[in-house]
Amino acid sequence: MNQRYALCIVLIALAVLPLACGKKEEPAAPTSAAPASVAAPEPPVSIAALNRGAGLYQEHCAQCHGPEAQGHPDWQTPGVTAAPPLDGTGNDWKRSRAELVAAIRNGVKRDGAQVMPSWNGRLSDNEIDDIIAWFQALWPPEVYSQWRRKQATPKG
Ligand code: HEC
Repeated sequence: MNQRYALCIVLIALAVLPLACGKKEEPAAPTSAAPASVAAPEPPVSIAALNRGAGLYQEHCAQCHGPEAQGHPDWQTPGVTAAPPLDGTGNDWKRSRAELVAAIRNGVKRDGAQVMPSWNGRLSDNEIDDIIAWFQALWPPEVYSQWRRKQATPKG
């Protein structure tokens, strides 16, 4: 391939690139593609992140927390250790973002027993963010707004 030909291809590629990218970046209207009951996350989470989160959740979390993040039916039964809901109907929404991340990263211990496995080194920070974004999208809108307001308010 001679140099001028190569340069020409580069120039064409540069000319086409913005067009191709421009098309890609068109907003995908994330909320309209989601089920009607799903609260609009703020700031908006991309549909790609939600899809990644959904896949990772089903792979790693659903067997204990339920496919819809509804929690194990016995999660409130005294003396039973069962995974609680993550869909905004349990205590999940009472946790700060840092607490949610810590629970997932480190797992949860009860009386010395690891009742929720640690995902440290098995899920990246981004993957944990995507999973949280996915189950938070299931939270009722008023629960999510309340959580957001609490996040914004300094403790004390
Ligand atoms: C082996 C079962 C199991 C798996 C798998 C599991 N969890 Fe859990 N998880 C639990 C249990 C049990 C608890 C409650 C621990 C306790 O008694 O406080 C819990 C608690 C939590 C909490 C704290 C909730 C709250 O109300 O404080 C979060 C957040 C959480 N899990 C997220 C996840 C995510 C995300 C995944 C997947 C990456 C996952 N869990 C996988 C069993 C599991």
